[in-house]
Amino acid sequence: MAFPPSFLDELVARNPIEEVVGQYVNLKRSGSNLFGLCPFHGEKTASFSVSPDKGIYYCFGCHKGGGVINFEMEIEGLSYPDAVRALAKRAGMEVPEDEQYQSRYRQQERLWALSREAARFFVSQLYAPAGAEGLTYARKRGMTKSTLTKFGIGFAPNTWTALTDAMKAKGYTDEELKESGLVSVSSKNGRIYDRFRNRLMFPIIDVRGNVIGFGGRVMDDSTPKYLNSPETIIFNKRKNLFALNLAKKSKLGYLILVEGYMDAVALHQYGFDCAVASLGTSLTEEHAVLLSRYTQQVVLIYDGDEAGQNATRRAIPMLEKAGLQVKVLKMRDAKDPDEFLKKYGADRFKLLLEESSNRVEYQLGAIRGKYDLREDEQKVRFLSEAAELIAGLPNAVQREVYGQRVAETAKVSMEAVRMEVERSRKRILTREKRKQEQIDLAPASMLQRRGSTKVTYDNVKSGKAEEYLIAALLTEPALLGQCGTLKAEDFSVPLYEKVYRQITARDHAGYTASIDTLADLTPDETSHLTGIYRSFGTVNEQAFLDCIQTIQSEHRTSSVQTADDLMAVREQLKQRKGMKS
Ligand code: GTP
Ligand code: MN
Repeated sequence: MAFPPSFLDELVARNPIEEVVGQYVNLKRSGSNLFGLCPFHGEKTASFSVSPDKGIYYCFGCHKGGGVINFEMEIEGLSYPDAVRALAKRAGMEVPEDEQYQSRYRQQERLWALSREAARFFVSQLYAPAGAEGLTYARKRGMTKSTLTKFGIGFAPNTWTALTDAMKAKGYTDEELKESGLVSVSSKNGRIYDRFRNRLMFPIIDVRGNVIGFGGRVMDDSTPKYLNSPETIIFNKRKNLFALNLAKKSKLGYLILVEGYMDAVALHQYGFDCAVASLGTSLTEEHAVLLSRYTQQVVLIYDGDEAGQNATRRAIPMLEKAGLQVKVLKMRDAKDPDEFLKKYGADRFKLLLEESSNRVEYQLGAIRGKYDLREDEQKVRFLSEAAELIAGLPNAVQREVYGQRVAETAKVSMEAVRMEVERSRKRILTREKRKQEQIDLAPASMLQRRGSTKVTYDNVKSGKAEEYLIAALLTEPALLGQCGTLKAEDFSVPLYEKVYRQITARDHAGYTASIDTLADLTPDETSHLTGIYRSFGTVNEQAFLDCIQTIQSEHRTSSVQTADDLMAVREQLKQRKGMKS
């Protein structure tokens, strides 16, 4: 399924890396490069760079790097061909079709189209006689016409095959319907039937506007209250959030994260158009990184019950790790935001939002709630747990401010709290020092694995020369003409051998090589190569020729050595045989 080189070159040219990356990352120019917050790991300072001249991105924090195609693969989780297809679509280019290649992307496109048709069908049903009950229910829940339209809310009629029939009439197969998760298979006769029946339907739409799944709510007290699409090749609950397609356009400057679809819908209706909901699962690291692409601040709203508290405790570190500022709003006077808004309106909710506490206040409150401070023993435990939390704060002013608050709460002296915090800090520092020592003592190979690269040089002298040579060739492809008798077999590092082979093959076909068009590299290899290419300046021709010499002479020496070793072994064998006979 190789794409023609001319097509790939044009694809790369028509998808400038700064534009493609710019869709996901807020980039600021600095000299000839652009910088922003890395979308692949949480961070607060910009160590993610894009070089338009070289057509590459590279992160100095997590050491991920590559060309525009690699970026598309990484950020959307696509295979190489699927990333190529996505970029072709972006640039309005026709992809040269390969008959044998049944692309997962084409399969996905079918499912996106099918899901969109299904969503349209559900909407049409909501306003048809079959959907009267659904529309009544939606009204009863206070949803306005414009909210229903904005979210594309629909209705799955109370029959077994209404959706199946409608989709088959549009040319979708049983197989496709099964893959979409919109139908179930009867265990009796193997026939398919509608998965969603007699439910109010919430389409789940990804940030690119594709319908990827559904949540359906019953209209009475039967169970399950919500039925969701199963995981499919287009629907991953760990990576998507309900209403983010709308919330990402909000001008409010923060995002609100709630638990329920209905809560997100109500918040939007009442003007908080920055609300998103998880899809009936707990928050994942992928969610946190996804959120950090669109905002720097998240307000967590969870139910006041035990489950809600636990969810909050788990979510906070994940969000912070992604570089997000977290505030927590504890619901009171109502079960959830939806109920609150209907009871008290938007203005009172705004007050709640304004007094929503930062996460330290929230966590201190949660610790406070566990103890009865009238009892001495419980007071001691409260102080020690609170000190542990405060000791973990990175900033001395914060430690002082919250320490003061704890002292007031427990009615003890600030001095006592300070000492307790110091003790905790010492414990934490010792723990970290021990961890650092373990890292320092780890063998070099371990460090290499942890850091930027899994590429190692057995022969450092040759490896360094090969590194220079490859970076030079990527920078100035015309230099290949000076490589003379240098052959791929002369290389000692498998990665560089592989790359050199491809550079020469592409040259034979009349094209120059680039990071984007190298095949069969692992993401780590691509990142490693991008790293050396990125830091490479201009080519020094003499150095280039010296490198060729070094590579060839090192190769000769090592082959001679191998030959010598071989001779020695033979000699030994001969002697042993001699001894036996
Ligand atoms: P309403 O009762 O319609 O207001 O819903 P809610 O959003 O207040 O519901 P709740 O707080 O009970 O649930 C929050 C979220 O959990 C929902 O939006 C669903 O995503 C999920 N959920 C709730 N009940 C079920 C269920 O029975 N099955 C599944 N799979 N998910 C559910
Ligand atoms: Mn609710």
